[in-house]
Amino acid sequence: MIETVYHILNAPGIAVLADLHGRPFEHVAELLRARRPEIICIPGDFVSGLWPGENRSPLDTQENVLPFLSACAVIAPSFLSLGNHEQYLDGADLKRIRSTGVTVLDNRWIARGGLVIGGLTSASVTAYRRFRAQAGQASSGVRYPRMQRRPPTLPDTAWLAAFGATPGYHILLCHHPEYFPHIPESIELVLSGHAHGGQWRVYNPIKRQWIGVFAPGQGLWPRWTKGVYEGRLVVSAGLSNTVSVPRFFNPTEIVCIEGGIE
Ligand SMILES: [Fe+2]
Repeated sequence: MIETVYHILNAPGIAVLADLHGRPFEHVAELLRARRPEIICIPGDFVSGLWPGENRSPLDTQENVLPFLSACAVIAPSFLSLGNHEQYLDGADLKRIRSTGVTVLDNRWIARGGLVIGGLTSASVTAYRRFRAQAGQASSGVRYPRMQRRPPTLPDTAWLAAFGATPGYHILLCHHPEYFPHIPESIELVLSGHAHGGQWRVYNPIKRQWIGVFAPGQGLWPRWTKGVYEGRLVVSAGLSNTVSVPRFFNPTEIVCIEGGIE
């Protein structure tokens, strides 16, 4: 794992922890304890999206998740949003997550100390909730292995205008970088993951930069995989690998943001 530091004007000190996917976290916690960020932001995919089994919670089948979140909350005020891998978490799971001390931003925002921090929930999560509700099983605790048919989905962005109009410095946890065109410009900082750096990174001699090869939701030669885009979208290459294909020239990373100087 590498530590990547970006300087962004007016931003607070933030550690961005994306795509840990329920993996061991001690190396991450150790770095956080040394760095002491002002806040910790977890923009989704802190669990693995594998089907946990009927009536079982991912929080019970993945033993690292709650201890990871508890460790974060001890180090600094911590906030998370829901990525596509969080689709099997239900209301009871979110309550258990909140009990760690981490603030869950599920299509909502909070204002605190001059910061306005929001979390845009993955469309995969909202589509799955809709599926369960339509199946009449929303309160039974039954989880479905997968949706029968996956319609094209968009996140619920209706609340973003009011979020962006709330006075303060706006930070949006938004797991999917491909949602960026839907984010109002009044939001100063957008934190994403999901693209895993494009899985393989290759050097483009024309652009004179390293670029990712593939990302879910963006396809081949994705646009947003790692780095800072338009001065306000920060994309983490993520903290783990979830597919059988190895990462090439693409180490896992913890992203740290520091305020820039005017
Ligand atoms: Fe993801």
